[in-house]
Amino acid sequence: MTEIVQLPPQAAGDHPALLRAGAILRGGGLVAFPTETVYGLGADGLNATAVAGIFAAKGRPADNPLILHLASPDALETVAVDPPRSSRLLAEAFWPGPLTMVLRRRENVPEIVSAGRQTVAVRVPAHPLALALIAAAGRPIAAPSANLSGRPSPTTAQHVLDDLAGRIDLIIDGGPTPVGLESTVLDLTADEPKLLRPGGIGLEELQAVLSKVGVDLDRSDLEQPKAPGMKYRHYAPEAPLTVVSGTAAEIAAYARRALEMATGQGRRLAVLVHTETAALLPIRLRDAVMDLGPRRQPEIAANRLFSFLRACDEEGYDAILAEEAEGKGLGRAVNNRLLKAAGGRRIRAREANII
Ligand code: TXA
Ligand code: MG
Repeated sequence: MTEIVQLPPQAAGDHPALLRAGAILRGGGLVAFPTETVYGLGADGLNATAVAGIFAAKGRPADNPLILHLASPDALETVAVDPPRSSRLLAEAFWPGPLTMVLRRRENVPEIVSAGRQTVAVRVPAHPLALALIAAAGRPIAAPSANLSGRPSPTTAQHVLDDLAGRIDLIIDGGPTPVGLESTVLDLTADEPKLLRPGGIGLEELQAVLSKVGVDLDRSDLEQPKAPGMKYRHYAPEAPLTVVSGTAAEIAAYARRALEMATGQGRRLAVLVHTETAALLPIRLRDAVMDLGPRRQPEIAANRLFSFLRACDEEGYDAILAEEAEGKGLGRAVNNRLLKAAGGRRIRAREANII
């Protein structure tokens, strides 16, 4: 049985439900909890058996390592060896927050957390319930996103329940997560910091703190994944998804033809587009439209994306067309998740035949 408990985001750290959740974690159990990015599925990060439970509950491949969540940057050296100076600068600038640093693993961190690697990924989440839970557990919490492996990450407690009911002990429901997609993963174990996964902290923000950040991600990401988690088809709804790029007018023209053709064939096509594009579609076609927000505000697309992908399945759509975001800031992370969900399928509205 999976229990679910609702807490206001600012619930006090000694709230009985948080103390009990801490005890479940210390006893080797699994607790899903909100972070500022997405819901995490937590286990005692220093207990190999408990961490094995995460892999089993999610159906997660054994070679995909987990992130350790800390209550404070001061705890960094309890799990990492010789963190470089850059990690301190980054912690000052972005923690608590959606930045994960890959560092050299201390021996007390079980191998299973890192899927056998010599490194360990760590972050301090910016969510009061997450911080209170880590404090209540009294140790680092290993937590991947709280979805079944391959599904879009959960941004509400209901998403977690839909995927993991009966497989975990407790879900802490703190409402929808504010950022809506996962943390940025940055490898600090080589000479030059390397972005492994774009996320809640934009590359431009990292570049303002670090003199150099490896930016080979855009091309290397799909071919030769460095973050092990990026090699699987990910964030994927059941309906096939195609990413479409172009101006609002080009995409609206394309989406209109695609919607008309789908209707003619008795297929249901969902269309995820920015507000500017949605406004150019005829009102009679707008039922199938999910609004990603204005192009200039990628944080809105980030916040809605995973919910929309799950809704497409729930509402029984046969296919999904999704408009690319502008490729900077959070838009880079939105595009990364869209391309993952699409298995790399991307077309230009101006040139493309209707799918
Ligand atoms: O925002 C987030 O990061 C959320 C919340 C719950 O904190 N967590 C999350 O975890 O997204 P997960 O497991 O779904 O994604 C972690 C990513 C994966 O791509 C994984 O391969 C990478 O981080 N990763 C973890 N440890 C690593 C390591 N030692 N070296 C390289 N990549 C690592
Ligand atoms: Mg995940």
